[in-house]
Amino acid sequence: MNIDKWIKQNAHNLDGQTIAITGSTGGIGKQVCKILASLNANLILLNRSMDSSNKQKEELLNVNPKIKIDILTIDMSDFNSVKNCIENLKKFDKIDTLILNSGAYAIHRKITDIGYDNVFQINFVSPYFLVKSLLQFLRKSKNPKVVLTSSIAHNYSKIDEKDIDFRTRKKSNKVYGNSKRFITFSLMELFKENSDIALSIVHPGITFTNITNHYPKLIYHIIKYPMKVIFISNKKACLNIIKGVFDKTDYMQWIGPSASNIWGYPKKKKLKTCTKEESQKIFEISENIYKKLKNL
Ligand SMILES: NC(=O)c1ccc[n+]([C@@H]2O[C@H](COP(=O)([O-])OP(=O)(O)OC[C@H]3O[C@@H](n4cnc5c(N)ncnc54)[C@H](OP(=O)(O)O)[C@@H]3O)[C@@H](O)[C@H]2O)c1
Repeated sequence: MNIDKWIKQNAHNLDGQTIAITGSTGGIGKQVCKILASLNANLILLNRSMDSSNKQKEELLNVNPKIKIDILTIDMSDFNSVKNCIENLKKFDKIDTLILNSGAYAIHRKITDIGYDNVFQINFVSPYFLVKSLLQFLRKSKNPKVVLTSSIAHNYSKIDEKDIDFRTRKKSNKVYGNSKRFITFSLMELFKENSDIALSIVHPGITFTNITNHYPKLIYHIIKYPMKVIFISNKKACLNIIKGVFDKTDYMQWIGPSASNIWGYPKKKKLKTCTKEESQKIFEISENIYKKLKNL
């Protein structure tokens, strides 16, 4: 099967639907938006760079001039920016689907102004706060849904209650993995309690994007071409997010590439990488963080 045939079989017209997406300017996000635009969805692009969003808006209107595209800024490493974005999102009539796709991996580490490791804040604290703050608003849609772009890397780390944000850890795969573990299982538990809103947890597979831009220059250049040849294209990887938009995952399920979570077309599977006890612990910690931040 080719990609366009897969889209025809698995996606349908989204006329009248509004989809908000974080990280739309990245390798996977751009491909997701092109497909959603071609299916007539109205889009809200949530990015930190207004220039990149404006450029993307022009490109998407070339794909489909009939859709409405709004732009809001959000910097996931800046709590005030996240709070402002939430207030601006609540001004829309409704959002049918919220896609949490932004992410950072091997970036320069620092502690943010609200006291978390920046990778942990970008990949977990901010998206969790965003979703939790928007739960009631999302119910304005008849069929609300949240789609999370997770990662197989969530399985590289087990949580450590003495070092929740992994600030003492040096290895970027462990730090990134811990943040993805937190966002994956906190949402798994949150939507068990809020099952009137559908959740799709998806893994895009492995694909070469800007996420490896922050590797040391030599490593970046060594891996660039082999990665492009060995792994799937951004367009094929993004199909997992598209399947998430049209399907849903139940408790301890996710959608990922059929072959070893790396190659192939999207498939829904059981997620056996976390015990219920650890998942509930993650939720408890996440709720405590949310309560603390809500009062800031
Ligand atoms: N590529 C893979 O193999 C792979 C595998 C598993 C999971 N993922 C996940 O897929 C998602 C998309 O990543 P990608 O591979 O497409 O990488 P990418 O090209 O680097 O895109 C990442 C997106 O996140 C945005 N972002 C980064 N830091 C941000 C911040 N502080 N505030 C707001 N937005 C921020 C980026 O914005 P800018 O354009 O402004 O930088 C960009 O739009 C991520 O959640 C990633 O963890 C990727």
